Amino acid sequence: MTDTLDLVVNGRSVSVACDGTVPLLTVLRDHLGLRGTKFGCGTEQCGACMVLIDGKPEYSCSREAGTVAGKTVVTVEGLCNGDDLSALQQAFLDEQAGQCGYCLSGILVSAMALLDKNKSPSRADIIAVLDPHLCRCGIQNRVVRAVQKAGAALSGAQP
Ligand code: FES
Ligand code: FES
Repeated sequence: MTDTLDLVVNGRSVSVACDGTVPLLTVLRDHLGLRGTKFGCGTEQCGACMVLIDGKPEYSCSREAGTVAGKTVVTVEGLCNGDDLSALQQAFLDEQAGQCGYCLSGILVSAMALLDKNKSPSRADIIAVLDPHLCRCGIQNRVVRAVQKAGAALSGAQP
C-alpha cells in the first residue's frame, strides 16, 4: 500500500510516495537517490546502513520507513559543508581511514553523533560507539585516529 511519507533528510523536507513497510534504506537509496548509505547484511549485523535519526545512529536496513515520518534523517551525504568536506571527512582522508570504503558511510555518521556529544573521545569511547560497525579491511586503528583528529579540529585543539 502506498503512503506519503514526509520527513527531513539532510536538512531538506521531502515527501516520498512509498509503502510505509519498506526499509528506510530503500527510501534513501531508491527513492531519494542517496546511494552513500550501503546495504550489507540486512539484519543489524554490520552497520553499513547506519544513518542518524533525530541525531541517533540507527540501522536503516531494518527500520520501516513509515516509522520515521516527521523525523530528521542524516546520511553520509549530509555530513559535507556544502561542497566542502566536513572536519570528520577530512580527518578520515588525512589518516587514510578507508580501504574498500563499504563500511565508511555508517562509521562516519556514528562518529559524527559521538563528536556532537564529545569532542575529546577516548579510544575506549570510540570503540564502544563503533562496535556495531563491521570493517573487513582492518582500518579500525586509523578510524580511531581520524575520529580523535576530527574532534580536536572541531574543538580548536591541537590533534
Ligand atoms: S545492512 Fe543494516 S546492519 Fe547490515
Ligand atoms: S574499508 Fe573495507 S569494509 Fe571497511
